Amino acid sequence: MQVRIPEEKINEIRQAVDIVDLISDYVQLKKQGRNYMGLCPFHGENTPSFSVSPDKQIYHCFGCGAGGNVFSFIMELDSLSFPEAAIKLAEKANVELDISPTQATSTETSFSKELKQMIEAHELIRKFYHHLLVNTKDGQHALEYLLNRGFTKESIEKFQIGYSLNSWEFVYKFLTKRNFEPAILEKSGLIIKRENDGTYFDRFRDRIMFPIFDQKGNTIAFSGRSLGSDEPKYLNSPETAIFNKSKILYNFHLARPTIRKLQQVILFEGFADCIAADRAGVENGVATMGTSLTNDHVALIRRNSESVTICYDSDKAGIGAAYRAANMLVEAGSQVRVAMMPDGLDPDDYIKKYGEAKFNKEIIGSSMTFMSFKLLYFRRGKDLQNEGDRLQYIEEVLREISQLDKAVERDHYLRQISNEFSLSLDALKEQQKQLYFNNKRNNQGQSFSEQKQIFIPNRQIEPLKPAFHNAERRLIYHMMRDPNIAYKVQDKLLGHSFNIDEHQAIITYLYGYYEKGMEPNPSQFMNYLTDDKLRRTIAHIEMMSVNEELSEQELNDYINQVLKHQKMLKIKEKEKERQQLETESDFSGAARIAMEIIQLRKSL
Ligand code: UTP
Ligand code: MN
Repeated sequence: MQVRIPEEKINEIRQAVDIVDLISDYVQLKKQGRNYMGLCPFHGENTPSFSVSPDKQIYHCFGCGAGGNVFSFIMELDSLSFPEAAIKLAEKANVELDISPTQATSTETSFSKELKQMIEAHELIRKFYHHLLVNTKDGQHALEYLLNRGFTKESIEKFQIGYSLNSWEFVYKFLTKRNFEPAILEKSGLIIKRENDGTYFDRFRDRIMFPIFDQKGNTIAFSGRSLGSDEPKYLNSPETAIFNKSKILYNFHLARPTIRKLQQVILFEGFADCIAADRAGVENGVATMGTSLTNDHVALIRRNSESVTICYDSDKAGIGAAYRAANMLVEAGSQVRVAMMPDGLDPDDYIKKYGEAKFNKEIIGSSMTFMSFKLLYFRRGKDLQNEGDRLQYIEEVLREISQLDKAVERDHYLRQISNEFSLSLDALKEQQKQLYFNNKRNNQGQSFSEQKQIFIPNRQIEPLKPAFHNAERRLIYHMMRDPNIAYKVQDKLLGHSFNIDEHQAIITYLYGYYEKGMEPNPSQFMNYLTDDKLRRTIAHIEMMSVNEELSEQELNDYINQVLKHQKMLKIKEKEKERQQLETESDFSGAARIAMEIIQLRKSL
């Protein structure tokens, strides 16, 4: 059954939700002229081509072509149907709707129903695990373990930490009794099917349970830490339809407001570190899920913040991983710093040993630039007392320094090297310049766009469109604002249509829209369209800079351009026909066509 939300309600919602407010929850926007710009959430990019217009209440990406209004934004981003998106926006705007969410979801596919059940099962069991840990005797030893490790009651609450019973079928029974299908529970990773007899058993037994949340705060997975020396130390949910490790960052949903406010992310390797740091007041910390950083993680971080401080374990593996992560983040345009712990400690160990204040001040507060980190990183595995190693180190470091844009920065690090190794600053500068020019020469074979720092905005490389294309779009712009203009265009076209099929489709819908007595309003008109592609085209048209006034002269010019193209096509057709007749030696026929061509040309 399709739910219908009354037109007035839709308009009420549209007027109550501001598009800049809405999109700011997902994308960091910066004011630029009349519009706001940011990194497009619908495709990966390092330089902003996503534009939001507060005046028109629409968005458009010049890179990937995404575009629409508040409804289509939520629909695309959260994969919702129109009624689902409307309900979500109504909630946000405090607009009362007279339908229940179940009514709206009755149109959903069985797939999305399954996803909802998987999440529901996780939500239920998360609450139960937590209850077992904090309120029951069964969980007492687990609670003691956590408190001994320095976890506080507050962080156990905040991170909803729990305990899974030492039972093979507790979760199985608990959830099947509540009408969850075993097959769904298996798909969600909570239970495992036995090969031999097809019965099921619980995946997590006698472990401290760390729930993992998605960006909306839904529980989608768990990681269970063993209490003793059982292997593996952390047992994770498998990859499922709702849990994708390479996309999820632990604690992102809680950290996001702080990340946005501070424009900074602290990136950890383990979630024990993330939780310990939170205790120390670091509320913008996130962690990967035991995998290395992926491009999806990097894009998520970049979309939400300008800078990142990497705070990985200070052991060999951690330093290597930090170097790799830093390079990926820099590549994506993030400002990167690295915070290091002494003596191979991880952040959690450090906080336990030296306290929260010291962690804040001496680790996070004293993080180093990526370049300073590289100065340390390149020392790994080298004996700097040995001349060969030392020279190799200096060359590697000079190469990195020569990549720095700012002369003051280059000077700063060159001085540091000069002091440390008692080398002449002038000689170092000389060598660094040489490396710079060698490097530049080697890069000359590269294409323009491959070289860093050079950015050609997508809108500038958009191919030039013919005049009639532009004329049609400008007409549509005005037609969407004034039904009189729309009907005038219809008259003046004398039964001809627009040359671009998409444009013709849009105006056909537009006439239908006006016939229904709807008010001229481009954003509202978008809701009337069922085709994404047309909606995107309208968003693009809306982003053109168009004079709000349309004179009769201008209108006629545009119409002429539209018709002219059709006449040109006609002339081409006639030319062919004439040539054909000539080859057939039908000269009188050819002459007649030639006259027609002359008439057509005259009318241009
Ligand atoms: P660590 O081994 O550094 O664990 O793994 P930790 O964070 O210090 O944890 P504690 O202090 O021993 O309890 C870092 C991350 O690697 C993943 C987890 O995500 C962990 O947070 N990991 C580790 C696993 O997925 N499985 C494992 O068996 C171990
Ligand atoms: Mn640890």
